Amino acid sequence: MAQKKQVSFPHSENYTFKFIDLFAGIGGFRIALQNLGGKCVFTSEWDLNAQKTYKNNFGEQPFGDITLPETKKEIPENFDVLCAGFPCQAFSKGGHRKGFEDTRGTLFFDLCEIIEKHKPNYLFLENVANLTSHDSGNTYKTILKNLDELGYYFPSNPLIISPDKFGIPILRPRVYIPCVRKEFAKDNASKIKNIETELEKQYAEGIDSIDSVLENTSKNKISPYELKVLKMWDEFYRGIDLKVIGFPIWMEFFKFDGSLDNFPLWKAKFIQKNIDLYTRNKKHIDKWLKKHDNLDWCVKTHRKMEWQAGKDYESIFDCIIQFRPSGVRVKRPNKFSTLVAMNHQQIIGKYKRRLTINESKHLQSFPKNYKLPTSNTIAMKQLGNSVNVTVLEKIFGVVLRDFA
Ligand SMILES: C[S@@+](CC[C@H](N)C(=O)[O-])C[C@H]1O[C@@H](n2cnc3c(N)ncnc32)[C@H](O)[C@@H]1O
Repeated sequence: MAQKKQVSFPHSENYTFKFIDLFAGIGGFRIALQNLGGKCVFTSEWDLNAQKTYKNNFGEQPFGDITLPETKKEIPENFDVLCAGFPCQAFSKGGHRKGFEDTRGTLFFDLCEIIEKHKPNYLFLENVANLTSHDSGNTYKTILKNLDELGYYFPSNPLIISPDKFGIPILRPRVYIPCVRKEFAKDNASKIKNIETELEKQYAEGIDSIDSVLENTSKNKISPYELKVLKMWDEFYRGIDLKVIGFPIWMEFFKFDGSLDNFPLWKAKFIQKNIDLYTRNKKHIDKWLKKHDNLDWCVKTHRKMEWQAGKDYESIFDCIIQFRPSGVRVKRPNKFSTLVAMNHQQIIGKYKRRLTINESKHLQSFPKNYKLPTSNTIAMKQLGNSVNVTVLEKIFGVVLRDFA
């Protein structure tokens, strides 16, 4: 007898619905929907690294490019849910007026084709939150118009949710579009239209402390150079007369005495604020500049600092920090912001280290035993592209409860 293949994340033997996982990435939707009793019957993802990770965890090789007819024809005739965290693309000029025609040549058009052919009872789409404002709102309107014409109900207002609503200490707003087929929903349209009211009842009262995510590790320590930069800005912050700063600190403009007329107004305002700050705190800043060799050793972008941590923290080392192209950004230590590529990853001030892969997995609500590539860079990219499993489970849990 052939031996049954062991996989880390099997679906339930008593599954209650079938779904397909498009633009699957590393399977965030799959974990969530399997947890809700679903069985995945088709997957498409063209990125080779993501395919490997997917196979490693679910034991199946995803099909590739979903725009190809030979991929589409592998989709089984019947399934209940179509899941897709599809990439956002602009539609043709003319906005939402022409509907289906506008989407031609985009991945959303491929989704529409699949939906029209298979007519699943549910769709579960996800995208970046600013899909709703993309092209002055026309992209989102076109999407909804198409979903309506294809025969689906969806939330009346954009359902933008971040995991911190469920207590997970990360800010990562995404727009979710759960849809139910009109014929199937019958008189229950209002339930999906007003799903946010139901979800709000499940929102957590507070946000878990970031310590609930942090592991005890000596991995991912920041470099001596980075430590030097942070110590330098820490000394700066402790000595100035502002606690809430409210504008970016640009060291190169402290002593600026040229004309501000050559700058855009917003920039001129910030420069003036830097000049004023310097003038008021001249003694402290001159001493600080001298001690730190005028910051000559510092990468240019690190000569800028953005304090976004309010007034309650004495030191940079109490906060969450990110080295960004716009400067060294300091934020409150209550939640992380969206996961990014490894070298921009957030630094936990008190531990002087970056987030680890396990911690990032936790922030995306992926199971502890989920296997990621050994390359931290690839693993972080895959997690960063993915969806928060808990948020998906909460949303689709309500849909199934109300419509199954
Ligand atoms: C935003 S990510 C979705 C991630 C996924 N929800 C997860 O949990 O990891 C979009 C994915 O679509 C994939 N993709 C883009 N175009 C594709 C295509 N034509 N065929 C198949 N996959 C595609 C990308 O490689 C990427 O992994």
